[in-house]
Amino acid sequence: MALTSFFRDKDTLNLIEEHVLPEMRRSIYIRIWDAGCATGEEPFTLALILAEGLSPDAFSSVTILATDQEESNFPQFEKRLAEGVYHKTDVIWIPRPLFDKYFYPFEPPDYYQISDQIRGRVTYQKHDLLSLEPVGANFDLVVCKNVLLHFPPDSRIEVLQMFHRSLRTNGFLAMESSQEMPAECEPLFQRLVRGGGLFQKVGAAT
Ligand SMILES: C[S@@+](CC[C@H](N)C(=O)[O-])C[C@H]1O[C@@H](n2cnc3c(N)ncnc32)[C@H](O)[C@@H]1O
Repeated sequence: MALTSFFRDKDTLNLIEEHVLPEMRRSIYIRIWDAGCATGEEPFTLALILAEGLSPDAFSSVTILATDQEESNFPQFEKRLAEGVYHKTDVIWIPRPLFDKYFYPFEPPDYYQISDQIRGRVTYQKHDLLSLEPVGANFDLVVCKNVLLHFPPDSRIEVLQMFHRSLRTNGFLAMESSQEMPAECEPLFQRLVRGGGLFQKVGAAT
């Protein structure tokens, strides 16, 4: 089972709140691709941040397309999308105000259910990044954390070029802050904060 957790890579999430949310407040439809989402804690984290940072109307226009190639992740994610039930040890990294607002006590004791409002914004699709076929176009934000480090350098470049094609003009790419941007892709993305994992697309949508 893939390693993942709610609110992983807090530095990158903080940058999304600071730089991407203000842009999203100006959009009508908000499209996010979470590539390599594992069992779903990451797309639910994004939905929690957006639920808190956007108006209810704007949040209702958010779609988060979560993709992963690993079949074995799917049953667990599907169950989470359908029920959204987590043990207390799974939710320890969720900031308390968000936990209190979007999670409800569940049976048996020590289990909590994430609200329909959060689950309803996320859909799942099986997808292999190495196919180099994007799952869509005109995304406002692509999130791909702790995935590219497992790819050989050439594949990393090709996947980043695909992300560039799948973003709208001025769209954002978020990765873990330790992920370097290969020199070949530097003309495609501008790093927003030195040492940070958030980038903005350079050039118009293709
Ligand atoms: C370490 S987990 C990271 C999960 C999540 N992004 C996070 O940061 O918590 C890496 C994920 O990448 C997925 N992955 C690996 N190769 C992939 C590929 N070629 N296409 C899509 N997903 C892939 C794995 O199945 C796994 O779920």
